[in-house]
Amino acid sequence: MKKTPAKEYANIEINITRAKSAAVSAAHGITPSEFKEIEPRVLAAHKILRKERKEGKYGFYDLHKDKASLAEVKKAAAHFSSFGYENLVVLGIGGSALGITALQTALNPPYFNSLSKRRRKGLPRLFVMDNIDPDTFRAMLRLCPPKKTLYNVISKSGETAETISQLMIVTALLEKHVGAKALKDHLVITTSPTGPGAPKSLLHPVAKAYKLSSFAIPLNVGGRFSVFSPVGMFPAAMLGMDVDVMMAGCAAMDKLCSKPSLTENPAYLRAAVQYLMDVKKGKSMSVMMPYADGLRDIADWYCQLWAESLGKRLDLDGNEVFAGQTPIKALGATDQHSQVQLYREGPNDKIFNILEVRRFNTNLRIPDTLSDIKELDYLRNKSMNKLMSAELRGTMDALKASQRPVMRITLPRLNAYTVAQLLYMLEVETAMAGRLYNVNTFDQPGVEEGKKIARRLMGGEA
Ligand code: PA5
Repeated sequence: MKKTPAKEYANIEINITRAKSAAVSAAHGITPSEFKEIEPRVLAAHKILRKERKEGKYGFYDLHKDKASLAEVKKAAAHFSSFGYENLVVLGIGGSALGITALQTALNPPYFNSLSKRRRKGLPRLFVMDNIDPDTFRAMLRLCPPKKTLYNVISKSGETAETISQLMIVTALLEKHVGAKALKDHLVITTSPTGPGAPKSLLHPVAKAYKLSSFAIPLNVGGRFSVFSPVGMFPAAMLGMDVDVMMAGCAAMDKLCSKPSLTENPAYLRAAVQYLMDVKKGKSMSVMMPYADGLRDIADWYCQLWAESLGKRLDLDGNEVFAGQTPIKALGATDQHSQVQLYREGPNDKIFNILEVRRFNTNLRIPDTLSDIKELDYLRNKSMNKLMSAELRGTMDALKASQRPVMRITLPRLNAYTVAQLLYMLEVETAMAGRLYNVNTFDQPGVEEGKKIARRLMGGEA
């Protein structure tokens, strides 16, 4: 497992100055009196969340404390790693797929799957199969010979058609190529727990039939809040990520996000700003724009978390409210050349979340070359790092000049500690935002209807 040096354990920082009225006007920024007004609501919501956390309603808060689960994950990862597999294929969708995708992009080197096994330090390539496009799935099967592949099927409900159909294809293939007896060396299950009172999962009989290793997703942990459960941690450990340091990052952020304070609790402050932006300033969209390729898939993960948790027709009192902000992912500097024109000059209906990495793992100098071209002097002998930072600041200043509100999150370094902090903070932020909107953050009734229709169209029971 790749170790994070202790000196790199630094907290992420948030800055909301440019979302205040003093920066972008009272029409587009939060005023001091609006902060004052929201404070008692945040504190009241904090009390409810604390109480319900204690009652065990929301398991995501405490996943980092579950030492037994982490030990189990590490033991299984050590066991399956000893087979030296070339590929790890995750079968899962939504909350079962986006977390590990985000972690892999953030924490393993770019172009990981294209590196030689030696350069991957013997770790498997990762394929996250979260769709049922037959062309893609067949291509994955061709790239990953069954004998050289470990599959991890992840489904909390154990009945998601997309995932189960993939599993059926893979099981048949494994039976043919490695045999039913050896299936247990190639397939790991992550689903709801067994036992009295636990819901039925179609993966339970599969695990039993083939004597498969399986991990339990706690019943009080929803898919999109499950990245620190075995859903994310088993594949993370298989891919050499430092899961202990991730837990330490969560614990440090848990401490900060437990503060009953609007100003000192980063998750609450961000939730309050996003909520006020939507309901008071007409910012019905929330753009997540990292200035680092490694954070690109965290923006995707955030989009699901924010959309599925807050996009609700009914509030907790049964009133029709059609709540929620539309999350949008963008990438700096790339999308400066695609989206920023709209962001600056189009409708002022967005709050921008800029993610910054203060120190990249690489320092890349732009050489003293093409010396005849005077116009390039400003780039010569500078670094790509400096250029990225200038682009970020340029966009922030340009947005401010057009009175577009921005919140910034800075990661001192991109590592297991800071990434875990970021994900944990966004989870707590979502829980608080849900309380402010007065909606059920943890269900997704709107997803069910489409699933039922598709099942009927396939000839199944609705
Ligand atoms: O956040 C959620 O609950 C959903 O996005 C689920 O993760 C997704 O629908 C997949 O469900 P399951 O894990 O039951 O297959």
